[in-house]
Parts: sequence; structure tokens; C-alpha cells
Amino acid sequence: MKTKIGIFGGTFDPIHKGHLKALDNFIKRVSPEKTLVIPAGIPPHKSESATPIEDRINMLRAAVRGFDNVEICLYEAEKQEKCYSVDTLRYLHETYPDCDFVMFVGSDMLMSFDRWYKAEEIAKMTSLAVFSRNGDDIEALKGKIEELKEKICLNAEVFTDEPTEISSTEIREAVQKGTALDLILPETEAYIKSKGLYGAEKTFDKDSVLEVLKTRLTPKRFAHVLGVAETAENYAKLYGTDPAKAEIAGLLHDCTKDYSYKIQLKILEDYGVQTRLEDRKEPIIHSITAPISAKYDFGIDDEEILNALRYHTTGRAEMTLLDKIIYVADFTEPTRNYSDVNFYREKAENNLDEALFLGMKWIIRDKIDNDKFLHPDSIKMFNSLLGIL
Ligand SMILES: [Fe+2]
Ligand SMILES: [Fe+2]
Repeated sequence: MKTKIGIFGGTFDPIHKGHLKALDNFIKRVSPEKTLVIPAGIPPHKSESATPIEDRINMLRAAVRGFDNVEICLYEAEKQEKCYSVDTLRYLHETYPDCDFVMFVGSDMLMSFDRWYKAEEIAKMTSLAVFSRNGDDIEALKGKIEELKEKICLNAEVFTDEPTEISSTEIREAVQKGTALDLILPETEAYIKSKGLYGAEKTFDKDSVLEVLKTRLTPKRFAHVLGVAETAENYAKLYGTDPAKAEIAGLLHDCTKDYSYKIQLKILEDYGVQTRLEDRKEPIIHSITAPISAKYDFGIDDEEILNALRYHTTGRAEMTLLDKIIYVADFTEPTRNYSDVNFYREKAENNLDEALFLGMKWIIRDKIDNDKFLHPDSIKMFNSLLGIL
């Protein structure tokens, strides 16, 4: 039997819960081995300028990351000129020879199918899974399918699941008014606000970030990141750097830690991030994927914050003040309860470098004593801190 590949295209401007429900229905009902989600570059039927494709892709990646066997296909997004379904299907047939394709379409798209560009060729290259929007047009859809079957040999099946009735236009208007954001995922909301898309005020939206972290992290880890954020903010005030940045870095430093190893690797692959082999080891990999997630899921562009996330596990030579703050807050925050924690907390409040140096030695010693992998950046950190006190 040929491998069945699902095609789920759209403008995704932005991706919303209606799309996700429809994608889920499509996968459940059609059971493709793999589904390609294909964001449109410049949609042929729309002339108004859409949100930059990079932003639509970033929101899309974060929203579908949890789906198994779903990949984002950038063929249409990367094409500089207008792209028709027939072009995409020709490309897919070349890329995935000997596969069967099933394309998700809404009922309105089916009713106008014979007016699609090169409809007859499309019908040869894919079958359609037609999802009725309101359920009362099933008979009309079946009639249309019979007609298209006779006329151009189209193979299509109708499904009665109803995708949630949400439109992207409705969401864009709601974002402008600051209402109805329960139609999108908190990830999407956090991203929209951090980039100021759709007329939203450009800001780091702590509430939506916390909503995301609550779903991504175990309750214990969630409490830990809140603790690190609060502690880092205090150290920033104490040692003279930006408390807001320290809080953001604290909140996001473990934002990918509870993802499976498979998802961590997928994040590296999705964003084309090359790493050294030692960076892919657990648990170090979460400090490589955290800044990627912070940047592409939460719209954080500040290099100082991204570096503090990047080096919070291993440390590095020549650490910045924010690097040090996150490294130390990680082992002194209020939910830590190891026996010497108060000793380190006191040190941290009086001399951050001393707390950093002692904490690092303790962490390195623990790795040696327990035969755990010692990352080369930690050795560089050790050497660079010699003589700091
Ligand atoms: Fe961590
Ligand atoms: Fe942590």
C-alpha cells in the first residue's frame, strides 16, 4: 500500500483554534501517515498584504509542535511568485514519489472546485477530504462530488465533523480591540503581542507566557521558573542590571525542559540549528532549545536574554551579569531545598561572583563524583572564573 500523505493548507494569519480543531479532525478521520501543513506565501485569491510569512510560520510551528507526524512544508512560503495548488501538488509528487495525497478542503472550496486553476490536473494528483462547515450542506456536497467525479474523475469524500467556526478576520479584529483571545493559543497570543502584530500593543505579555508555561511544564518546574524569575529580578536590582530582562530570562530559562527528547530534536531541525554533539546531550539540550523557543515562539530578540538561557546549564567563559544572575538564581530560588541552600542564598545576596564561583565548583564536583558528563563550556567557565575573588 502506498503511503498516504495529508495536505492541510491555509494562510494561517494567524493560526487559531478553529484550524487546530480542523487539523485534528482531518488526521483522526483520514488517518494519513504524515500530514503536511502548508502555509500560503501570497494566496492567489487575496490581494491585501498578509502578515510577514516568517511571523505566520513561527506562530504555526509553536501551535502544531505537539501533533505527531505533522510537518510544516515551506514550498509555498518560499516561492516568490503566486502559487497555485497545482504547483504545490506537482512539487509534492516529485518530492514524495509513490505516495497518495489527500487534501483537506472546506465545503465552500469544493463547491467552486471546477473553477480552480487546472482543476482537472489537481484531480489526478490528489483526492479531497471535504469537511462540511455547518453540516446542513451534505447533500449538496455529495451531489457536487458526483458531478466532479463524472466530469474530471475527482475522488472526494465528505466528512460531517464540524470545524469550530472561527475566522482569522474575526481574530485580527479581536486582537485590535484586545478581546476574544481565547480563540487562539496562549503561544500565539504571546507572539502577537511581543511583535505588535495586527495592531496589538507591542509588549512582553507575562500572562500569556505563564499560560503557555503552565501547559508545557510540570507543576514543580512551573513553580521553579516562577522562583527563578523572582530571584533573578531581585538580583538584577541588587547588582544593577535590568530587572525586567532578568525576570523574562528567569521565566523562560527552562521553557523547553519538559519537552520529550524527540521534540527537542525537532526544534533544532525546524530552525536549522547546528550544534556540537555535546550540546545534544540531556539535559544540556534544553539550554540550546530554550533560546530558540524564546526567540521563535515568544518573539524575544534580546541577545542578552537569549544568551542567559543558552548558558544557564553549562556556564561559559566571560559570563555577562545576566548570565551570572540566571545561573545563580537557578540554584538559590525559593523552591530549592537542598541542605546548604541558605548558605548559597546568603552568598548570592552579598557577593554574586562568590556565589557563582562556589555554586559552579559544587555543580562540577557533583558531576565528577557521580560520573556525569562535564560539558567543555563548564570547564571554560571554571578557568575563566579562577582569580575572580
Ligand atoms: Fe535548566
Ligand atoms: Fe532551572
